[in-house]
Amino acid sequence: MLNPVFVAIDTPDLEAARKLAVNLSGHIGGIKVGLEFFCANGVAGVLELSQLGMPIFLDLKFHDIPNTVAGALRGAMTAHPSILNVHATGGEEMMKTAVATVEECAVKMNCKKPLLIAVTILTSLDSADLHMLGSFDAPKTQVTRLAKLSQDCGLDGVVCSALEISAVRKVCGNSFKLIVPGVRPEGNEMGDQKRTLTPKQAIENGADYIVIGRPITSAADPIAAAQAINSTLLI
Ligand code: C5P
Repeated sequence: MLNPVFVAIDTPDLEAARKLAVNLSGHIGGIKVGLEFFCANGVAGVLELSQLGMPIFLDLKFHDIPNTVAGALRGAMTAHPSILNVHATGGEEMMKTAVATVEECAVKMNCKKPLLIAVTILTSLDSADLHMLGSFDAPKTQVTRLAKLSQDCGLDGVVCSALEISAVRKVCGNSFKLIVPGVRPEGNEMGDQKRTLTPKQAIENGADYIVIGRPITSAADPIAAAQAINSTLLI
């Protein structure tokens, strides 16, 4: 199978990000950069990483009114990512506007449309956190509801935790893309992640892509850490 691992390179340091990506290329399926990298380096930094030839997941998790998200997506599209995302909790109109905007941009730019993905509930939140936010459904119920709404709005898939994959698959089917962060190889620190499983369990449960940051990027030997994860996935 194609390597489903996107490495989350969370650093503001472009040179460090580039070096890590160069070292890991051949051992990973793609690079994920998010707010920490983007706030420091912008579209130019993403374009520099994309020269390495790996797919880029630009994880900016837009969450604003429809018009603002549309404008932000137009800017993000100039970085030519393979995957872009918004928060499902931005609502139906925002997500439909996002879908239309990305489709329009791809036509204008004459490029392949990136996957547009919705973040459901962050993997750093558990039911106690959700209660505090006034939301009393179990994470799985909320994630599944948001996934269905995202699918109805025309998005290509969602970000969810490994614990919700089968519930989302039941409702959204097999072609809906599931991107799973918050995975931890056996024995690794959880850090701020709360809804986690191992990479192997995430793939067995049906994730299309898994996002792994610190277990690889903070390892003494990131290549060995990536290879160890790959071997559990039989890659
Ligand atoms: O270091 P770690 O493996 O926890 O990194 C996970 C990455 O996935 C981070 O870059 C984080 O921003 C991202 N992410 C997440 N939970 C989501 C969506 C994205 O942890 N729901």
